[in-house]
Amino acid sequence: MKINIVSALGAIVFSSFVSAQLSGGVGPSTTTASKAAKKVCNILNYGGVASKTTDNAPAIASAWAACKSGGEVYIPAGDYGLATWVTLTGGTAVSINLDGIIYRTGTAGGNMIFIEHTTDFEFYSSTSKGAVQGYGYVFHAAGTYGPRILRLYEVVNFSVHDIALVDAGAFHFTMDTCSNGEVYNMIIRGGNEGELDGIDVWGTNIWIHDIEVTNKDECVTVKSPASYILVESIYSNWSGGCAIGSLGADTDIHHIQYNHVYTQESNQMLLIKSNGGSGSVYSCSFNNFIGHSNAYTLDIDGYWSSETTAAGNGVLFYDITFDNWHGTCSNGATRAPLQLLCPSGAPCYGITIENFDIWTEAGSEVLYKCENAYGSGPCLSTGTSHTAYAITTHTVTSVASYTITKMAADFTAGFGLTTSIPIPAIPTSFYPGLAPSSALLG
Ligand SMILES: *[C@@H]1O[C@H](CO)[C@@H](O)[C@H](O)[C@H]1NC(C)=O
Ligand SMILES: *[C@@H]1O[C@H](CO)[C@@H](O)[C@H](O)[C@H]1NC(C)=O
Repeated sequence: MKINIVSALGAIVFSSFVSAQLSGGVGPSTTTASKAAKKVCNILNYGGVASKTTDNAPAIASAWAACKSGGEVYIPAGDYGLATWVTLTGGTAVSINLDGIIYRTGTAGGNMIFIEHTTDFEFYSSTSKGAVQGYGYVFHAAGTYGPRILRLYEVVNFSVHDIALVDAGAFHFTMDTCSNGEVYNMIIRGGNEGELDGIDVWGTNIWIHDIEVTNKDECVTVKSPASYILVESIYSNWSGGCAIGSLGADTDIHHIQYNHVYTQESNQMLLIKSNGGSGSVYSCSFNNFIGHSNAYTLDIDGYWSSETTAAGNGVLFYDITFDNWHGTCSNGATRAPLQLLCPSGAPCYGITIENFDIWTEAGSEVLYKCENAYGSGPCLSTGTSHTAYAITTHTVTSVASYTITKMAADFTAGFGLTTSIPIPAIPTSFYPGLAPSSALLG
């Protein structure tokens, strides 16, 4: 039941059941070629002007209205100003081909591009050169935040790919309550501070792969409620790192898998974060994580201090596997690379840690810390009675196979907050030795 129908433009249509991890096919139901064959709505024919000083939002909205019941909105190569924001509602069998570059000129908050209640949808660049430049530095230099770049809400059967999102005023890309989606071959470059999330996702049956993120907050992060989400080949190139959370009351997250995640100079390789709260996270796996120069590495923090305590005894974590983690952390005695701090009101269990080899770049020991945590692997308590216990610290003075292959060009400094961030090309590899699942279109 593996179907890979590749259209003339290279769009993958329902690369069905790429993994048992997903619950069904993902992506748009019809190709961009068949949408464009039906109708093309070039924004230049709807009042758009390829000029950074024109507000192209009304033209994009008009082109969408004309093509949203079947067709392709086309934004040709060129520079386009956006002074007001676009909300594109409804629509089915519609795509947006962004070969041009959209530049933020307006200063309102909210979302520059908001797409909602849409089915069979594709947002892509046929040349892999399309981008949105948020010029967030203008806000960040003044100590404030500006608009987010892209938000999808209740979008079903969709893909987003081959587009760069650069320097958002706030978050770069959020998928809220979406399903059957594929997101791939993207690069996100944000400023070097918090609140500039890369990709945040909640919903079901979504495959996110071949993504590079630079910022200082979430790389690719799953929020509640979410299920059947597969995240693969992620390059956290100077970022906050990947995470699950923050989690509060009634958390409902299950069947999440991250695989092949390369992280360097980030806050963590993976953080599962809650503080109080209720509900659960279960049936998840995090495999083939490598990295270096990160502050934290594998971190479950049920007392995450950056989050206000939520009502409840704590979020329950169970049946979670971590396999094949290699590399180094910045200082393994200051920040334990293995830290499993589960809530005392909901001790975690069924945690499996295998092939965990993380050494330190400073000093000669690494710490493992566990609290209220049960399962198999280093530091965890065994047994079937999952009672609360105080933190235990284990000192490890040698680690075997921690050597990793690094990416060819790791970023050596974060982007500042006071100058414009250049629009990068989309990379052709996001994990050492792995080619993307789909070739770039351009
Ligand atoms: C999404 O695609 C699947 C598979 O083609 C189809 O069964 C389903 O009806 C689609 N959903 C919507 C809302 O169009
Ligand atoms: C990581 O980011 C830096 C800074 O933008 C860039 O120069 C470098 O090429 C990136 N690394 C890769 C492998 O893309």
